[in-house]
Amino acid sequence: MQLDLFDAKRNEIVSAPDYTEFRRRLSESGCRRCPLAAGRTNIVVDRGNPAAPILVIGEGPGEQEDLKGQAFVGKAGQLLDKIMASIGLDTDRHMLIANVVKCRPPENRAPRQDEVDACLPYLQRQIALIKPRIVILLGATSLKHLDPTKRDFSMANEAGRFFVLGDYPGVQFMVLYHPAALLYNARLKPDMWSHVQALRDFLKEKNCWPKDAKAAKA
Ligand code: URA
Repeated sequence: MQLDLFDAKRNEIVSAPDYTEFRRRLSESGCRRCPLAAGRTNIVVDRGNPAAPILVIGEGPGEQEDLKGQAFVGKAGQLLDKIMASIGLDTDRHMLIANVVKCRPPENRAPRQDEVDACLPYLQRQIALIKPRIVILLGATSLKHLDPTKRDFSMANEAGRFFVLGDYPGVQFMVLYHPAALLYNARLKPDMWSHVQALRDFLKEKNCWPKDAKAAKA
């Protein structure tokens, strides 16, 4: 766990003994570690089931998420729900969904490096407390901040890729297109379809397929 000598509030949040307490401390913290605090309505910690084996990581809250205090509840979230339902998974029951930054960037721009640096310890603590079997990185922002060795890359080459990271032993990572990208470019849909089928096959093969999930379609 990464503690900060000069930030007692953050230390208190990241030293929460369990996920429920972490979530409460962070959402009630009034965190002001970066400039995004000035424009937010709510700190958006997550949505879904912290006991699930799948953690999905997006970029940052949009307008709806900011207003409701829950991750992926706007248009991109509704599409994510449909994509996961297509392989038999329910986003609220079978996964936890979080973001690289917990406060809404203005005009939905990508978060800046200083904002990510301020917020990343919270995501790292989420991963440590949840202990997911698989982490799904949605889009380029999520990939580049979880794997800092990634600099110049194209999502066309990355989407669908499975990999591991030395900083997160025992965790399998997978990259998927961000659902918002599909809203702008419908030509990505067939690739997304084959990538989530690969996700379904991987989860079944590794015995991570949730017992109460619908029978996966072939
Ligand atoms: N896009 C994201 O990356 N995260 C959200 O929570 C909503 C939209």
